Amino acid sequence: MVACEFQPGLEGIPAAQSQVSFVNGQVGKLEYRGVPIEALAEKSSFLETAYLLIWGKFPKADDLEAFQEDITHHRRIKYRIRDMMKCFPESGHPMDALQASAAALGLFYSRRALDDPAYIRGAVVRLLAKIPTMVAAFEHIRKGNDPVQPRDDLSYAANFLYMLNEQEPDPFLAHVFDICLILHAEHTMNASTFSARVTASTLTDPYAIVASAVGTLAGPLHGGANEEVITMLAEIGSVEKVQPFLEEKLATKSKIMGFGHRVYKVKDPRAKILQKLAEELFARTGGDPAYEIALALEKAVAEKLGSKGIYPNVDFYSGLVYQKLGIPTDLFTPIFAIARVAGWLAHWREQLETNRIYRPSQVYVGEHGLPYITPESR
Ligand code: ACO
Repeated sequence: MVACEFQPGLEGIPAAQSQVSFVNGQVGKLEYRGVPIEALAEKSSFLETAYLLIWGKFPKADDLEAFQEDITHHRRIKYRIRDMMKCFPESGHPMDALQASAAALGLFYSRRALDDPAYIRGAVVRLLAKIPTMVAAFEHIRKGNDPVQPRDDLSYAANFLYMLNEQEPDPFLAHVFDICLILHAEHTMNASTFSARVTASTLTDPYAIVASAVGTLAGPLHGGANEEVITMLAEIGSVEKVQPFLEEKLATKSKIMGFGHRVYKVKDPRAKILQKLAEELFARTGGDPAYEIALALEKAVAEKLGSKGIYPNVDFYSGLVYQKLGIPTDLFTPIFAIARVAGWLAHWREQLETNRIYRPSQVYVGEHGLPYITPESR
């Protein structure tokens, strides 16, 4: 074994060999199973993309139909899960509610048969099917209302928007939402995927894996940034205030939310697609002053930080799109989780294929051989 130097944040250290996705951060290229993200966003659907990620190949028409049907059939959640959610504080963050509910699924589907393909498929189907229902259910429960039951005649994306708003969405809005799910479905060895793989490597159940990944995604340096972008754009308030806001952030060495990425040193290709989507959406539904502020901020940040490779990441424009779809700000990260479940499950399957439990080393920098100090002499 080759010992290597400690790298904070494990920067540049491979944590797995993977065929799930590929990023080239120097040129802004992202592929799922070798297929460019641009092609998937234009031609695929979220469930087809999820199938591609998880099973490693495009489904034949019959396989896709069966997969979609199974997922539709498993959308409902048990009334006990709903009742459990009713005990959550309404002020709790929806990501915390999702993490607890995802973990609770493991109580109801507790068989752990990792060498049984039917078990694996069943868990994949259940997680893809039930996570959106749980996110929408908590939204109603925290307002004191009963959750809206899923509708079998609606697509995956349309059904989620329906469960959330109790209204069948315009097909264009459902299409936009489906593309957002495709764009967020997978992204190599990010923090939550690493978390998923570490948890998977202990051979625990997939519900625990998704719960641990949801907990990791929740932080503001990862999935939580899209929420913070909207708060930041509201705080800036107008295009004229962009420059002073940026100057102040730079002077205090604060991070600008929605910018920067460990891997991308150019604009994130997902941000480019999302920006185009946001423009189409605003053209149909009316403009948004926050978008003008976002454009001005992107330009100002490029001037000041472009030389450091700091450009918009996926979170910069996703919040603006979600806001236009009528999604509450604190559901942005749970929606990210709905999509990323596909990537986590793909990595779960891949981890199982060649599993070795994660057990890295550390560089101990503490002291040695110290005496025990009795309480009275401390
Ligand atoms: N605003 C201002 N400066 C930044 C930003 C930013 N958003 N991001 C990085 N920098 C600067 C740092 O200050 C640092 O400068 P220095 O070398 O002069 O000290 C340099 O760029 C490197 O930054 P690090 O934080 O060391 O980069 P790292 O790879 O560790 O972090 C991260 C990447 C966490 C995404 C960071 O860019 C960040 O905090 N961005 C804001 C939060 C955000 O948008 N997160 C979403 C990421 S996408 C996702 O998770 C889906």
